[in-house]
Amino acid sequence: MNREYHIAVVPGDGIGHEIIPAGVQVLKAVARRLGFTLSTENFPYGAGYYKDTGDFMPSDALETLRQFDAIYFGAVGLPDVDDTLPAKMFTFKIRKSFDQYVNYRPARLLPGVQSPLRDRTSKDIDFVVIRENTEGEFVQVGGFVQLVSAERACLGLAEPRRAGAGPDFPEGFAMDTSIFTRKGIERVAHYSFRLAQKRRQKVTNITKSNTLIHSLAYWDSVVEQVSQTYPGVTYEKMYVDNASANFVLHPERFDVIVTTNFIGDILSDLGGAIMGSLGLGPSGNINPERTYPSMFEPIHGSAPDIAGQGIANPIGAIWSGAMMLEHLGEEEAANLVVKAIQTALQEGMLPADLGGSAKTAQITERIVKELRK
Ligand code: NAI
Ligand code: MG
Repeated sequence: MNREYHIAVVPGDGIGHEIIPAGVQVLKAVARRLGFTLSTENFPYGAGYYKDTGDFMPSDALETLRQFDAIYFGAVGLPDVDDTLPAKMFTFKIRKSFDQYVNYRPARLLPGVQSPLRDRTSKDIDFVVIRENTEGEFVQVGGFVQLVSAERACLGLAEPRRAGAGPDFPEGFAMDTSIFTRKGIERVAHYSFRLAQKRRQKVTNITKSNTLIHSLAYWDSVVEQVSQTYPGVTYEKMYVDNASANFVLHPERFDVIVTTNFIGDILSDLGGAIMGSLGLGPSGNINPERTYPSMFEPIHGSAPDIAGQGIANPIGAIWSGAMMLEHLGEEEAANLVVKAIQTALQEGMLPADLGGSAKTAQITERIVKELRK
């Protein structure tokens, strides 16, 4: 029986329009080779769409996207659009609505790529950052505040010198609240330990509970409880400041990292950097129960500084596409794509961000040619 998958394609903004079509070309090539069908439908959502319509996607977009087997996404954001909007109105909305609570970001030094870390080879840099993807520091609950009279009186403060209220007054302040739930921590921890069982049997919980003494102390205690149900997996806890030093000095120490939304966001860019470039890093926003579609995207943003030049590195996007195929059950296809990426890199097909001069289209064509063999 013919295997057919329906993919919603959202290039987004900036280099999304270059790297995502490149990825689709590669994915269709491997599908043809292995005899399955990828039917794709393009959606123009993003900051450009916002400029035209006042929203990042139409109000029924979630219903539309829900019908697909997976979403293949570039990045959203443009320099002339308020940059507090893309995450709130697009990325986080999808991750949360589709309960994509695992953000899976492998960092692996591919053969043919030089790490900025001296003398490091593929066997030293091979870990996965599992970032909690639906709650924590990124729930966007907070506000801009100026204390009003009653609150000031309670705190024993004098009345403000000037009439009027607003965050621009000397008494103004802003706050963001983090929310960590037991359910949210447990499920991402279980996912991480199960993943470690299939890898090198080690989980490092990266935290900052020595200073975020409520939320992250709770995070630690729940992760630790989960760790006790996986006796075969080595468990360690590391503070994020020390962990960032270890990413550079001892990347071989890591196998599976479990961490919070904010810490994972930062550390996975560092992971991308030590594997050679942000342009290489893939990611999956995964709903492990498969109640909703999962979404696959490179870790980088829309890179408006290089958009339209045809020089963007398509590998993070293509590799994300391989992860999507694996999620859909097409493991052989996923392995073939990663192998084809490695062949291109080992031949010296390096894009500008890796010090080479190969264009997006040349790299894509080389990978497609490899898959046609
Ligand atoms: P960025 O990741 O877009 O770019 C950072 C630097 O890396 C730039 O110098 C860029 O040229 C380079 N770079 C990134 N991807 C590359 C690639 N594939 N090939 C070659 N070079 C590459 O991050 P930045 O500049 O902080 O953000 C730009 C926009 O993207 C902002 O609007 C931001 O909000 C948005 N963004 C969106 C994300 C998403 O939709 N998931 C994630 C991160 C940022
Ligand atoms: Mg990021």
